[in-house]
Amino acid sequence: MTDLVQLTSDNGIAVITINNPPVNALSPGVPEGISEALDQIAQNASVKAGVLIGGGRTFVAGADIKEFGKMTSGKSRGAGLLPLLLKIEDSAKPVIVAVHGTAFGGGMELAMAGHYRVALATAQLGQPEVKLGLIPGAAGTQRLPRLAGVAKAVEMCVSGNPVSAEEAQKLGIVDRIIEGDLLSGALGFAQEVVGKPAPKTRERNGKLGNAAENALILSAAREAVAKKQRGLLAPVSAINAVEAATKMSFEEGCKAEQKLFIECLFSEQSKSLIHVFFSEREVAKIPDIPKQTNILPIHSAAVVGAGTMGGGIAMVLANAGIPVLLKEADQAALDRGLATIQSNYANSVKRGRFSAQVAEERLKRITPTLAYDAFTSVDLVIEAVFEGMALKKEVFRELDRVCKPGAILASNTSTLSIDEIASATSRPESVIGTHFFSPANVMRLLEIVRGKASSKEVVATCMQLSKTLGKIGVLVGNCRGFVGNRMFGPYRREAQFLIEEGASIEAVDQALSDFGMAMGPLATGDLAGLDVGWRIRKEYRHLEVPGIRQPFVEDRLCELGRYGQKTGAGWYKYDDQRRAAPDPAVGELIRKWVKEAGTAQRQISVAEVTDRCLYALVNEGARILEEGYALRASDIDIIYINGYGFPAHRGGPMWYADTVGLRRVYDRISEFHRQHGELWQPAPLLKQLAEQGKAFAEFGREQGATA
Ligand code: NAI
Repeated sequence: MTDLVQLTSDNGIAVITINNPPVNALSPGVPEGISEALDQIAQNASVKAGVLIGGGRTFVAGADIKEFGKMTSGKSRGAGLLPLLLKIEDSAKPVIVAVHGTAFGGGMELAMAGHYRVALATAQLGQPEVKLGLIPGAAGTQRLPRLAGVAKAVEMCVSGNPVSAEEAQKLGIVDRIIEGDLLSGALGFAQEVVGKPAPKTRERNGKLGNAAENALILSAAREAVAKKQRGLLAPVSAINAVEAATKMSFEEGCKAEQKLFIECLFSEQSKSLIHVFFSEREVAKIPDIPKQTNILPIHSAAVVGAGTMGGGIAMVLANAGIPVLLKEADQAALDRGLATIQSNYANSVKRGRFSAQVAEERLKRITPTLAYDAFTSVDLVIEAVFEGMALKKEVFRELDRVCKPGAILASNTSTLSIDEIASATSRPESVIGTHFFSPANVMRLLEIVRGKASSKEVVATCMQLSKTLGKIGVLVGNCRGFVGNRMFGPYRREAQFLIEEGASIEAVDQALSDFGMAMGPLATGDLAGLDVGWRIRKEYRHLEVPGIRQPFVEDRLCELGRYGQKTGAGWYKYDDQRRAAPDPAVGELIRKWVKEAGTAQRQISVAEVTDRCLYALVNEGARILEEGYALRASDIDIIYINGYGFPAHRGGPMWYADTVGLRRVYDRISEFHRQHGELWQPAPLLKQLAEQGKAFAEFGREQGATA
């Protein structure tokens, strides 16, 4: 037996314990260990049944994800679970699988091969492979419909979302919920079933439905995927695999599943999603901040400004159980801010996200105030007042005066210098940027902006806080626009140039949306408010270099009061439900303006639209990386996926460029440079990597930023 699996026995029942911390992944050695244990159980006449259980905090949380990468590079043939699962099912002595924590992916497939399943009420079971661009590859799509029915199997494999033990019991996946000690409960259950015929899941065909019903279920699922998981291979493959279970023998179904699994495994989509999975874990690693850095306790907080962002941030803190003071400049603004928070909570209750009681508790944690008096005791302040340096400095001077030593003073600014804001205080080491995205209570991204004086404790505490708040914190440096918005500028600039050169608004948005962006760049502008950028451009106009082309159409739209969704018109026109429709009047205006400006008009291909917008992101990303404002290319990817609607299955902009090949990206950017001038100067890092035949992913590793 390997040391990953132990075999003991209790009163005639063998106990197979998997011990592969932290999550009992099915790494090499685990299946072999279980297989050996089964051989011993078969040979030992005094053993009447077996219980399979996970040691530590969970059953098997899945395959070892690193193994997938090894499989595609030919370094591993995979765990080869299928024969083991048949061996469990064919065991003459019943095998009871006892689940606590999570039975995910390969863990779920392992559990389904047992003759019975018992679980703690807190356990969760699921097939989340689709989230990595995969489908279950060890008969999960064949056994699950036999236990839970076709509709539920499709739903679970397509969404990847787990079910609770209780729901699993209702569905027929779990036979009994155990209260108290799981092993004792499982042993008791085993004693009850000894001697009875042990049901083999693969032979339980009763829930496989009939052709007519299944056709409806499968076509509805395909339609939903086409809408909600547009362009994704794995959800479609999952449906096809479950369909195979309804039309073929178990053996043939397994072969069909295997073929689909391999297709997914070798797809660019799966490689990208696996990259995202690892990158999300990588963001927490900061080379000069060791793991044991002191984390400051955050027991209470305050937010300054109860506008769009401040209100959302106060909710995020309250939702995480942190009491928060919410300060405004005057009573009317405070009332408005609170009313919005209340109506947001009421909406969540209406939609069934949480109970009225939970909403009430959360609301109670938010204390409105007009004064800084109570700020003396808080551990953290997040400022979210209007975007203007003079005002921000005034607020920080005040915070410096009232807050206790050691309190973290954070700004939600999206464009201003954290160092300059910090200079208004006597303690720049306590000042940092926490850049939330709108709506703050929904968006997962949090850019944590490190000022030149921000202390390691303050950085480490904010990184930790992002987790407490259910966000993904990415550390960035203090440059204009930080990482996300700095790259977004060139991206949106190109979208506007394309319009000025003859592309239609709808064509530009459609091209990016077909690429997989959650929204096209122009529709995104309408959502955020075109006036925001307009105001910033007016403020920074003196910094513009003469002779460098600037987009002008958006400013003209603003001059006409077309600020986007909030004014009912921007690039598109909107009804009172904020539904967009093309506005022919805008098209006509644009043609008139560009004619006056003398901009040459031409036919523009879809490929040019996507290349210009996406490579503008990549080129700026390369500069940011080289200048050290992001630690790794993969951090930029995580920012774009979680804050800007970049499709996860493309891996983020930098990963996408790596998949295209940096040589090709560089050549195309050089071509744009020749055609469109200075703004397309290739980033030196891009040029260097392209010439060396390297990828952005390698640059991060060479810098020692990644483990
Ligand atoms: P907003 O205009 O909705 O809210 C600002 C609030 O601050 C107003 O309610 C105002 O009354 C209040 N305020 C002004 N002076 C104050 C003072 N001395 N004490 C207390 N409250 C005061 O603005 P929004 O959109 O919430 O932006 C706030 C900050 O967040 C800005 O720095 C902005 O750049 C940043 N940000 C905005 C995003 C957005 O999408 N709206 C996204 C990310 C960051």
